[in-house]
This record gives sequence, C-alpha cells and structure tokens, in this order.
Amino acid sequence: MNNIRLATKKDIKKIFELLNHDRNLSVDGKTGEYEKEDVEEFVGVKINKTFVYEEHNKILGVLITQFWKTYIYLHLIIVDKNYQGKGIGEKLISYMENIAKKRRIKAIESITGKKNKKMKSLLKKMNYKRGKAFIPFRKEL
Ligand SMILES: CC(C)(COP(=O)(O)OP(=O)(O)OC[C@H]1O[C@@H](n2cnc3c(N)ncnc32)[C@H](O)[C@@H]1OP(=O)(O)O)[C@@H](O)C(=O)NCCC(=O)NCCS
Repeated sequence: MNNIRLATKKDIKKIFELLNHDRNLSVDGKTGEYEKEDVEEFVGVKINKTFVYEEHNKILGVLITQFWKTYIYLHLIIVDKNYQGKGIGEKLISYMENIAKKRRIKAIESITGKKNKKMKSLLKKMNYKRGKAFIPFRKEL
C-alpha cells in the first residue's frame, strides 16, 4: 500500500500542527515558529513539493522540499513523535529520491542541527555525505 502522496490544501492544518510540535525544526530551538502562511506556501507554490505519509486518514509524517532543475533542497522532514522509529522518515526520503531519479536531478541537499542525532543518522544511513561549511543565522524583524 502506498501511504505517500503530495500534500493538498486540505492538509494544511494538520501539517501546521505537526511542524509546530517539535523544537528541532527551528534555528533557535523553539516550538511554534511556523506560521500558517508558510505552510500554505509549502503546499501551494509550484517550486515546493510537500509530501505526506498517511495512515487511516491521519498524517504521520511530512517532507517539505524545493525541486529546482538540477537539485532538490530538503527543507525539512518531521514524523509524529508517537510514530518515529518505524521507517516512515526513510520511506518519505526514498519516495522523493525516486521522483528525483526519474527527473534526472543530480543532487539533494539539506541542513540539520549539529545535535540532531536522529536526522544525522537517517541521512547517513541513506548515503548522504556531510558538508563542511554552513552556520545558521537569524534576525528578528
Ligand atoms: C528525523 C526523523 C524525521 C526520522 O524519522 P523516523 O520515521 O523516526 O525514522 P525511521 O524510522 O525511518 O528511521 C530511519 C533511520 O533514522 C535513524 N533514527 C531514527 N530514529 C532514531 C533514534 N531514535 N536515534 C538514532 N537514530 C534514529 C536511524 O538511522 C534509522 O535507521 P535504523 O532504524 O536502521 O537504525 C524523526 O526523528 C523526526 O521527525 N524528528 C524530529 C524532527 C526533525 O528533527 N527533523 C529533521 C530536521 S529537518
């Protein structure tokens, strides 16, 4: 059974809730940083592709990406805390990679927290190589 599909506008509320339940998803390590407007763009703007993993009408995982011509930026991935460690993250990334290969996209890039053991381990397991150079910056306006 294929549980993964592209997100639609109907998913925005559920995705919004999922994104705001984990502090790993912010530069400052705070929860609740995502705005509804951002989620609307993750789903509605063409360059973005947002995938959801769903079981019994419940969204358990979300993968937000940007598909450029030659590479993909993996913006973020999140799996519901109660369903982590069951292979959902890996399935979401494999799904995106299969689409990428069909489109002859050459690379996928992502940035994650230094201390984010789960994400680092997931990426390593899936053969992503570590980069050397980026530091996050943020300015409150
Ligand atoms: C990172 C995350 C998406 C992984 O999703 P998941 O569905 O739990 O991962 P999977 O079950 O597919 O596991 C795949 C691999 O991830 C790593 N992993 C998953 N859970 C882990 C844990 N608790 N500790 C260490 N590594 C872990 C392992 O390498 C695992 O492979 P293995 O099962 O052979 O050991 C999930 O932990 C999450 O949502 N974290 C919070 C949000 C976040 O930090 N997102 C990344 C920032 S962009």
